[in-house]
Amino acid sequence: MIRCIIVGYGFLGRKLAKEIAAHKIQDLKLVGIASSKGYLYKESGFKPEDLPEKIAEAQGFKEAPAFELISRELADLLIELTPTNIENGEPGLSHIRQALEEGMDVVTANKGPIALAYEELTSLARERDAMLLYEATVGGGIPIISLQKRCLAADELLSIKGILNGTTNYILSRMHFEEMTFELALREAQMLGIAERDPTLDIEGIDTALKIVILANSLMNAGKKLNDVKIKGIRKITSEAIAAAKESGMTIKLIGIANEEELSVAPRLIKLGDPLCVHGTLNAINLNLRILGSLTIIGEGAGESTLSALINDVYEVVKARRISTSKNALNE
Ligand code: HSE
Repeated sequence: MIRCIIVGYGFLGRKLAKEIAAHKIQDLKLVGIASSKGYLYKESGFKPEDLPEKIAEAQGFKEAPAFELISRELADLLIELTPTNIENGEPGLSHIRQALEEGMDVVTANKGPIALAYEELTSLARERDAMLLYEATVGGGIPIISLQKRCLAADELLSIKGILNGTTNYILSRMHFEEMTFELALREAQMLGIAERDPTLDIEGIDTALKIVILANSLMNAGKKLNDVKIKGIRKITSEAIAAAKESGMTIKLIGIANEEELSVAPRLIKLGDPLCVHGTLNAINLNLRILGSLTIIGEGAGESTLSALINDVYEVVKARRISTSKNALNE
């Protein structure tokens, strides 16, 4: 039985905890959940009915940092879901570092640590023979990282281009189809819960830049940092600019690009018929490969769809560890 802990008990943490506690993945049990306030540990594993709404109000709550829970003695797999911090990746970065040092496998949706410390964390994982999976950091449920690594790794990836942020795509779509101003579309997105109360990271293009860095490093081995990305957000896009684009069968989208020459995020003109030109909260990612040519994949880039990426990464870890355990048993 593989023992996992979830650190970060927000929207995704709660949903994933329910899936695991309901035994949606065989041979996996959830033994710990942690929030910023403290944690709960149950060696026999949580059942769905044991899962509290708020950790701090549950019986057995321990007011202590998650670091206490991140130990190979207590668990085999860390699922790290604390919020993204673009300044220093914390506390997620230290959680992931500690788990890998302990030889634990890690699955995360946290963009900060993967964008800021990709090289360090992947080397550490290799050294300790641990798995580090982060599909959920980019494109919500779109399996872009697994797709390239499993199906396209022998081809040569020349460039990546994509709409990687649902919030800005929603705003630009409302400006295009409903002729709204930027401010009105943003306010609507906030009222619908699509945009955060502080949507700066989305609007200024930083969220897209983090995702472009993750894709460039993990799929192209680019060794890039957030500072290497030329970033321009959508705050200055006017209804007039969108109307002018519309008249010539185009629109404006926030596009992230990674290729040999550059990493960039900027609002760009795009033909309405382009496969990349998706609307609403959808994301679209285009890979250009030497042999295959152009491949575009489209899907929901945020919210509950991210659960699909997370649970698939968790399943990959369980599958790999199940196989290696049975191999060891055969060798004994
Ligand atoms: N704020 C992000 C978006 C969430 O709007 O796409 C997913 O990373």
